Amino acid sequence: MLVSAKEMLTKAKAGKYAVGQFNINNLEWTKAILLTAQEMNSPVILGVSEGAGKYMCGYTTIVGMVNGMIKELNITVPVALHLDHGSYEGCYKCIEAGFSSVMFDGSHYPIDENVAKTSELVKVCAEKGLSLEAEVGAIGGEEDGVVGTGECADPAECKMIADLGVTMLAAGIGNIHGKYPANWQGLSFDTLDAIQQKTGDMPLVLHGGTGIPEDMIKKAISLGVAKINVNTECQLAFAAATRKYIEDGKDLQGKGFDPRKVLAPGFEAIKATVKEKMELFGSVGKA
Ligand code: 13P
Repeated sequence: MLVSAKEMLTKAKAGKYAVGQFNINNLEWTKAILLTAQEMNSPVILGVSEGAGKYMCGYTTIVGMVNGMIKELNITVPVALHLDHGSYEGCYKCIEAGFSSVMFDGSHYPIDENVAKTSELVKVCAEKGLSLEAEVGAIGGEEDGVVGTGECADPAECKMIADLGVTMLAAGIGNIHGKYPANWQGLSFDTLDAIQQKTGDMPLVLHGGTGIPEDMIKKAISLGVAKINVNTECQLAFAAATRKYIEDGKDLQGKGFDPRKVLAPGFEAIKATVKEKMELFGSVGKA
């Protein structure tokens, strides 16, 4: 059964570790992440962007697939199915379809409008027992065609949004989606520290988990980050493993063209990436 992310993140914040959000793209992706979470005895959050939602034939298809897998694969660790960077309308669609968690990304609105829309969703999610993530300070990079520049959130605005009663808060601290450019300045720990001081127990979310050095990840967790999003890194691992299979000519040998065989190395590569992240984030054994 899908669960809200509230309990797993409250425990993570108190225990000074982070739960990984891994974005899904298809059946193989979802299966790889769920099986790894179970093997690691770790809670997990499956992230779905609106673009990936469309690609996978809509939110109800995804809910059906994930619930089916939880049952058929005997997944007993806590699993949240979460809309990533949702629009206001997208949140309602996911709530309707049976997601257990949503993110409303109102960071591109003026703060008053972000507050108003987030407040509405706080009410709806509370009624249904779902977790809600809000965002302050746009997180840069390119994700599903949404482009933004790296920003550091204003800690006072973070407090304003946190006080509305959201479950977790994503705040820009110089992080960006996708690969980090060579001239990246790194995370702003001063900003993170100021945000955590203003928001107290609120689990903070670090987006753009791909390519952040291990020491920065650990420091971010020590300063209140309890959820870390990883997307691009699984895509890179999947693509590299698939490329190797084809370049080695494996699809031309015997029944190597069978899609179950073609996709197997990429599947294993996602599993290895997720395992590595769960170990780094400290969520192993915390289910
Ligand atoms: P990356 O693709 O950089 O790992 O970021 C993922 C993310 O933050 C999803 O919201």
